[in-house]
Amino acid sequence: MRWNLLQLATWKPEAWSFNPVVLHAGRVVGTQGISATSFAVTRSFMTGSWLGRAHQGQGLGREMRAAILHFGFSALGAETALSRTFRENPAALGVSRSLGYEENGELVVERRGLPAEKVSLRLSRERWALTDRPEVHVAGVERCLDFFGG
Ligand SMILES: CC(C)(COP(=O)(O)OP(=O)(O)OC[C@H]1O[C@@H](n2cnc3c(N)ncnc32)[C@H](O)[C@@H]1OP(=O)(O)O)[C@@H](O)C(=O)NCCC(=O)NCCS
Repeated sequence: MRWNLLQLATWKPEAWSFNPVVLHAGRVVGTQGISATSFAVTRSFMTGSWLGRAHQGQGLGREMRAAILHFGFSALGAETALSRTFRENPAALGVSRSLGYEENGELVVERRGLPAEKVSLRLSRERWALTDRPEVHVAGVERCLDFFGG
């Protein structure tokens, strides 16, 4: 709640973080976030995914990422999607791999007092267009485009 309130309170077209919930069979099962800084200039966005434990490993992670990629590329007109995950997170890496992302670097971050490796991933608009993915429909975004700097 604090995270979401902070994102809403500090939202501006030059720096935003949109964190919609994921609904499955009528229940909220997770969130699929998308964020960007200077999107009007960079045309690039970052995503962050979370599913409740009981809902992991059933293909929902791939579907919700595909949905937000469609939102970013198709509705907002992005050129590049970015993602970062810990090297030992096979589910997150699996989602990115199956949607066509390419590794484009790594970095070391502090995690609970110890160094941990994160992988950077990148998906271009061209690769996204060629990826086999579920059909996605976006409704009502036209009135909101100014908020995204789109
Ligand atoms: C990361 C997360 C969103 C992925 O969603 P998911 O529903 O579990 O993943 P999916 O079932 O859609 O699987 C996507 C791909 O990864 C593969 N995969 C999933 N779990 C895996 C595992 N434990 N080991 C190896 N591969 C795995 C799947 O086979 C699938 O590949 P395919 O499409 O080629 O068959 C979800 O697991 C999650 O919320 N984890 C906790 C939070 C987290 O780590 N978020 C990411 C932070 S960067």
